[in-house]
Amino acid sequence: MAPQNFAAWLMKKQDAIHVVNDAPYNKPEADEIVIQTKAVAINPVDLAIQNTGIIIDTYPAILGCDVAGVVEEVGSSIKDFQSGDRVIGLAQPAPGGIYKYSGFQQYVVLKMPLIAQIPNAAKWTDATVLPLGIDTAALLPFSEGSSVGSCGVQLAAAAGYEVFGFASTKNHDFVKSLGAAQTFDHSDPNIVNVIVAALKDRTCVGAFDAISNEKTLGVLCDVLHQSGGRKAVGALAPGAKAFATHDVSITTNFAARNSETAVGPQIWHVYLEPALASGALQYKPSAEIVGHGLQDVQKAINLLTQGISAKKLVLSV
Ligand SMILES: NC(=O)c1ccc[n+]([C@@H]2O[C@H](COP(=O)([O-])OP(=O)(O)OC[C@H]3O[C@@H](n4cnc5c(N)ncnc54)[C@H](OP(=O)(O)O)[C@@H]3O)[C@@H](O)[C@H]2O)c1
Repeated sequence: MAPQNFAAWLMKKQDAIHVVNDAPYNKPEADEIVIQTKAVAINPVDLAIQNTGIIIDTYPAILGCDVAGVVEEVGSSIKDFQSGDRVIGLAQPAPGGIYKYSGFQQYVVLKMPLIAQIPNAAKWTDATVLPLGIDTAALLPFSEGSSVGSCGVQLAAAAGYEVFGFASTKNHDFVKSLGAAQTFDHSDPNIVNVIVAALKDRTCVGAFDAISNEKTLGVLCDVLHQSGGRKAVGALAPGAKAFATHDVSITTNFAARNSETAVGPQIWHVYLEPALASGALQYKPSAEIVGHGLQDVQKAINLLTQGISAKKLVLSV
């Protein structure tokens, strides 16, 4: 008998609440895995979909990107995972009315390669902070103290780059603990001159802007223009290119499709699993557990609207 699934549903576009109700249990296709969810994290994109109605076009809908859980069932072509494995994965709410890939449910279908085994000692609520951050940061070099930025700093440092991180002063030690060699106060009005001076005698390979608004991109374009080196910025927001100045190239990585490129297997399996097993990759930013069960999804999203600093809101499930 198929397991009984249930989900936190958004019943209509821009609805203010999620409602927990039954959901279909979906068997995996050949290259998919079904997990039983043990923890989920809340991301700004969940808030954005709920508040503005972007991405999703069919309701009722299920949101949620970051999941950790136990493998329930594996597709016929899967060799590296088996039922009972502890994993994290990137869930993917998408248009079209199919919500088996969304995260806020008891049984989630994950697509290869966006799944990684986690060590037995890892807590579900810690491990679930990583998937969207790591997958988004994977395409691009470096950044600051946000969720995506925390992953970007760790990836860039692991790749051997000397990383300069931008964060508020209170988070400088945190960003250094992720591998940044130097940190800079993102609110310093003189930040461009300070960073250009710090880059003297170094070759800059580019920048990663995990915030990607006009102000942050303006600073980076000025820095890259004045410091020489490669004038390239990886950004996260659609339309970020419009903020390019001084012939700096801004590439937007929105809703990255790492599953369709060679980056996916490289990050999720070649890098992520050994890095988690050895402890080289930290579960950062730290999880703040704000509820237990899918009935607390709305409470967690509401808390995110109040703003967070160097942490990620998670629920045990
Ligand atoms: N393209 C994609 O596929 C994709 C995927 C995931 C996320 N995103 C987007 O990326 C953005 C970040 O997401 P997230 O989950 O990483 O956010 P988050 O963790 O909620 O971001 C909060 C953090 O941003 C930092 N911050 C704010 N302004 C900053 C600045 N000017 N310079 C440096 N740090 C600054 C804050 O640091 P302080 O407290 O130190 O000020 C805070 O810790 C969101 O807009 C999200 O929608 C896009």
